[in-house]
Amino acid sequence: MRAITPEKVNFIRQLPKVELHLHIEGSLEPELMFELASRNQIEIPFKTPEEVRDAYQFTNLQSFLDIYYQGANVLIHEQDFFDLTWAYLLRCKEDNVIHTEIFFDPQTHTERDISFDIACGGIYKALEKAKAELGITSRLIMCFLRHLSEEQAFETLEQAILFKDKIIGIGLDSSEQGNPPEKFARVFKKAQEAGFKLVAHAGEEGPAQNIVDALDILGVDRIDHGVRCVEDENLVQRLAEERVPLTVCPLSNTKLKVFEDMKQHNIVGLLRKGLCVTINSDDPAYFGGYMVDNFLAVAEAFDISDEELTQLSLNAVEASFVSEQEKQIMRKYISGVS
Ligand code: HPA
Ligand code: ZN
Repeated sequence: MRAITPEKVNFIRQLPKVELHLHIEGSLEPELMFELASRNQIEIPFKTPEEVRDAYQFTNLQSFLDIYYQGANVLIHEQDFFDLTWAYLLRCKEDNVIHTEIFFDPQTHTERDISFDIACGGIYKALEKAKAELGITSRLIMCFLRHLSEEQAFETLEQAILFKDKIIGIGLDSSEQGNPPEKFARVFKKAQEAGFKLVAHAGEEGPAQNIVDALDILGVDRIDHGVRCVEDENLVQRLAEERVPLTVCPLSNTKLKVFEDMKQHNIVGLLRKGLCVTINSDDPAYFGGYMVDNFLAVAEAFDISDEELTQLSLNAVEASFVSEQEKQIMRKYISGVS
């Protein structure tokens, strides 16, 4: 890997950042996993946090998901969800993340008889505290697990509607292959009618057509990942013209073998074609890095200018779900500091 200058490292550290693709369950560090396992008397098949980290050798998305869902078993009480979220927000502060829009997977918890309000309540309280004490703003997005049924998604949407004051949007994650967007066409239509913003993972492991279908069938406001768009030249042109945001996760993509190594990644190419691409950490405890680590990994693999790095932050502001007034404040701050 190419060494980057200390000036570039400093620039990346101080650049104000906005995160739009973060699964809160994927920010569970092995140390906290052990602490919660002990607190809640839950058996985990590891002896030390190092052993947990050694087990994080993934060959594809499913090999990660199996371990990720197992890790979430230690989350039982509202306080656990609060502690998990607060630990992530402290990392945001370190990385100069000024705004974050985070996902949670309620079905991972309701399937274990942990209620929607326990998960949502704990996460939301930490987000509120971060606004007051760290000056970090946020939004909360609830994802359907796409390997589960449409009927289960409808049941989950009913719950989300009860927490509409705390949840801004609905997303779609988990195993993309074999679970195309159209499986959730009706439930997304209902979510849109209920006033939620819409996002979906598409074109991560699945084909470019999933991106087209997420846009045209589900009506999403942005695409999570979307890197396989390059397999359809017309789609790339459309994404550029319509400024459809892609929440790209560089370290996730290399860890899950979507790209063989960072030099093969297409994020910088897509940025230079005028697409609204953004950098995000996805599941930082599992993929080896938070926001700064992801920016550094891209800057190590590509000759990327400070202006382009700033543009990545400005793209995330453009793609965020805050008001135009809040966007203006963030734009000024990013342009003023960088
Ligand atoms: N893809 C699909 N589902 C997920 C991911 C991802 O990158 N992270 C957590 N759930
Ligand atoms: Zn994701």
